[in-house]
Amino acid sequence: MKRVVFNQKGGVGKSTIACNLAAIAASRGLRTLLLDLDPQGNSTHYLMGGSMVPDQPTLADYFDQVLNFRLRPKQTADFLLQTPFDRLQILASSPQLDELAGKLESRYKIYKLREALGELDEFDLVFFDTPPALNFFSRSALIAADSCLIPFDCDDFSRKALYALLDNVEEIRGDHNPHLRVEGIVINQYLARSSLPQRVVQELTDEGLPVLPTYLSSSVKVKESHEAARPLIHFAPAHKLTQEFVALFDALAVDRVESVEHIKKRA
Ligand SMILES: Nc1ncnc2c1ncn2[C@@H]1O[C@H](COP(=O)(O)OP(=O)(O)OP(=O)(O)O)[C@@H](O)[C@H]1O
Ligand SMILES: [Mg+2]
Repeated sequence: MKRVVFNQKGGVGKSTIACNLAAIAASRGLRTLLLDLDPQGNSTHYLMGGSMVPDQPTLADYFDQVLNFRLRPKQTADFLLQTPFDRLQILASSPQLDELAGKLESRYKIYKLREALGELDEFDLVFFDTPPALNFFSRSALIAADSCLIPFDCDDFSRKALYALLDNVEEIRGDHNPHLRVEGIVINQYLARSSLPQRVVQELTDEGLPVLPTYLSSSVKVKESHEAARPLIHFAPAHKLTQEFVALFDALAVDRVESVEHIKKRA
């Protein structure tokens, strides 16, 4: 199961959601991979913290190999790093991804990520964190994934962007990836006591958009856990927001995709 977390709007919680769901999956015993496709590298910093050292391989090295085909190329697995968390691996970001994007695009390498993942069958769950733009990297992820989670931060600008986003996903599904489906809209930084978020979410639901039933509230614990480079399930397991992430993970795993038990049985 490959799940991309995407919204072209910046700062809506893509990296936070991708990393925390991935960490919960791994803590449940699932072999989990996170691909950080954003040159900003926020997920890489969040999961690796100080354990990332300069010569370790990154996604930029993988794409560099794609562009400069060598006689004895490395396997995709050679680019993966173990995070400090059991069963959670990462294909790390690098700022060099920015420089590679133009060449990769002009040489039609948009299917390479899907091919690379085809070589990796040891994972139960794969998460892609994406940059805040519909560009080479986010399109590569949407082409490689089975499903798309859309973080949404309840403001009116986000709502306008949502319709364009759903059209973009539909276009990629039609043109490149018939398996891709929108798994749901994840309401993030929900302020239960203000009326605007409630109204916006109600309107989305009334329009028949797939709003997931578990909302993520706003908490300073998120920033503290980023700073500590420890996802919430490890940093503050009993916290309300952590439990909301767990409920979100369970809702996805059980209702919408495959049950965790089923995945575990196969493992
Ligand atoms: N539930 C939350 N409660 C409080 N703060 C949050 C929450 N979710 C995200 N944030 C904060 O919002 C900011 C943006 O989050 P994040 O980096 O995950 O978003 P993003 O969509 O990945 O951003 P970008 O588009 O730049 O990649 C961060 O400072 C993060 O700490
Ligand atoms: Mg991000």
